[in-house]
Amino acid sequence: MTSETRAAVPAEQQAREAEITRQVLDSFGDCTDPRLREVLKSLVRHLHAFVREVRLTEDEWSKGIDFLTRAGHITHDRRQEFILLSDVLGASMQTVAVNNQAYGDATEATVFGPFFVEENPEIENGGDIAFGAAGEPCWVEGTVTDSTGKPVPGARIEVWEADEDGFYDTQYGDDRTAARAHLFTGADGGYRFWGLTPTPYPIPHDGPVGELLAATGRSPMRASHLHFMVSAPGLRTLVTHIFVKGDELLDHDAVFGVKESLVKEFRRQRPDTPAPDGRDLEGRAWSRVGFDIVLAPDGA
Ligand code: BEZ
Ligand code: FE
Repeated sequence: MTSETRAAVPAEQQAREAEITRQVLDSFGDCTDPRLREVLKSLVRHLHAFVREVRLTEDEWSKGIDFLTRAGHITHDRRQEFILLSDVLGASMQTVAVNNQAYGDATEATVFGPFFVEENPEIENGGDIAFGAAGEPCWVEGTVTDSTGKPVPGARIEVWEADEDGFYDTQYGDDRTAARAHLFTGADGGYRFWGLTPTPYPIPHDGPVGELLAATGRSPMRASHLHFMVSAPGLRTLVTHIFVKGDELLDHDAVFGVKESLVKEFRRQRPDTPAPDGRDLEGRAWSRVGFDIVLAPDGA
């Protein structure tokens, strides 16, 4: 509560409101799961403080309930409005920050997003994740090491991205699988694959979260990026993206996911430049980017 609003609420009323909070906190006294008790009590403390601080009206409460109800109704197995809500409120990035503390020069994590799919094709090291998705080819290469610099062979790398029209395969409403795959690092910890040069795209904004962004004058656009999830035994799983140096949206990402260390130079190549693996690019321009990944120890 600001000192201004607190001053406006008579002491007796403040005591009545505090008593409600106390009763709810006490109601968790018999909860035998200590973590659940801690989380719920803290949630109630903050929620009640919020209601009291803004002096929430009943009409506003009703609108909030309606918002959450509509978020529920628009959610299905391929559309997750609650993750979007968490993302645009920065709760996702705050959770990432809390759970991925800096460790030496370990690669920084960022937001997971709603478009990862567990079942995705395996490609050879050097293969192509596009599977027909439209976009400029991009050669991506790097290494996976642990924080002592030791190469990590056999690390699993999941990659996924939007096509040049700004859509993930799951947004087309058919059964296509495109612009996503997984591969494994070689004996030297190296990896390479063909992806698509990332382009900016809006997060889904045809639902309640889009209304919230519009009502607050915020853009739904995400800075261009390519998603990675990298895992190996004994090492902390890394969920991250790389972003495109020079992208105008780097400072205005709708979900606050950009970190300086993840901004990489995607070097544009003229159509006649030979591809690193000798692939025939049929006269198309292409790009290339390097991304060396360092994994922290598990539990770091
Ligand atoms: C994504 O990058 O795929 C994403 C992240 C947060 C919200 C929507 C999309
Ligand atoms: Fe994305």
